[in-house]
Amino acid sequence: MIVLGIETSCDETGVALYDSNKGLLSHHLYSQVELHAVYGGVVPEIASRDHIRKLIPLIKETIKQAGISHEQIDGIAYTAGPGLVGALLVGVSTARALAWAWSIPAIGVHHMEGHLLAPMLEKNPPAYPFLALLVSGGHTLLVKVDGIGLYTTLGESLDDAAGEAFDKTAKMLGLDYPGGPLLAKLAEQGDPKRFHFPRPMTNRPGLDFSFSGLKTFTLNTMEGLSGSQQDRADVARAFQDAVVDTMIIKCRRALRETGLTTLIIAGGVSANSALRLGLEKLGKAEQAEVYYPRLEFCTDNGAMIAYAGCQRLLAGENTALEINATPRWPINKLSAPNLAFGTRP
Ligand code: KG4
Ligand code: ZN
Repeated sequence: MIVLGIETSCDETGVALYDSNKGLLSHHLYSQVELHAVYGGVVPEIASRDHIRKLIPLIKETIKQAGISHEQIDGIAYTAGPGLVGALLVGVSTARALAWAWSIPAIGVHHMEGHLLAPMLEKNPPAYPFLALLVSGGHTLLVKVDGIGLYTTLGESLDDAAGEAFDKTAKMLGLDYPGGPLLAKLAEQGDPKRFHFPRPMTNRPGLDFSFSGLKTFTLNTMEGLSGSQQDRADVARAFQDAVVDTMIIKCRRALRETGLTTLIIAGGVSANSALRLGLEKLGKAEQAEVYYPRLEFCTDNGAMIAYAGCQRLLAGENTALEINATPRWPINKLSAPNLAFGTRP
């Protein structure tokens, strides 16, 4: 089965073709980062308009690069939520229109299920069950994954998502949007011993996270400083160390509590090399295997949506014809493919 994947939930237009026999055939990504950078964050209306401009040319290019014709496409997978409603609707309506025109089924995919399954696109995919740390701009989740759609949320952020905390702290340090990768780069030059930030919610039981206090800590630390490049790098380092350490502590706890021996990390923040390194070390110490997607599939992309949608389409599931986006959609509301027609929002 060949599936066209479409991702438009935020500020990246992602398109891919996934073949259940041959794997990924082609994928394209157009990032709107430069458009939003001048405003210091994503402007939803600009995001929707730009998806409209870029989506059809990207679909054409992706089909061309795969060397197939559109008649060979068996189904369409599109991000139906969570995300910005206007941006989502561009992908949803384009996907539904193409599916109607081509007389093929289409399925609305949960964006975080896409992230969660992204490691499956790699050569050596993890086997179920596993523990997943999902860390993106909008979500921080620890999930027990027993199979597709079989998700138990073990912990989540009570306030800012991990990526959001990176972005907001980066802004305080005078970095551009999106600040996560820039903060990570700045932290490389930082002195790890100069400041020590708290590891929130680690000295009490449970697997939830809280990152908003680290912003205040950053602000208070910066207040007493001249704001030199070295000061900013040292603060960036202390912030990153605190976030990474907190995640390591929670993942260790979750592995031990569940008895799982496989850990995957996915979502934009999983591109952070300090986090990858830290979790790899944790894996060695806990005798757990650690998996993550290649860098370009950590952040938003069409390939993960094509893969996730393909698995559900293969199981006979598809979404009813109406054009519907779900901006707020908890991942534990998903269920395993159930062979029923038109059951998903
Ligand atoms: O998954 P994603 O592309 O979009 C959402 O679904 O939100 O994640 C984007 C988030 C942004 O907050 C960005 O700053 C963060 O991931 N991010 C990083 C890094 N690369 C992206 N955060 C820390 N270190 C990185 N290297
Ligand atoms: Zn995402």
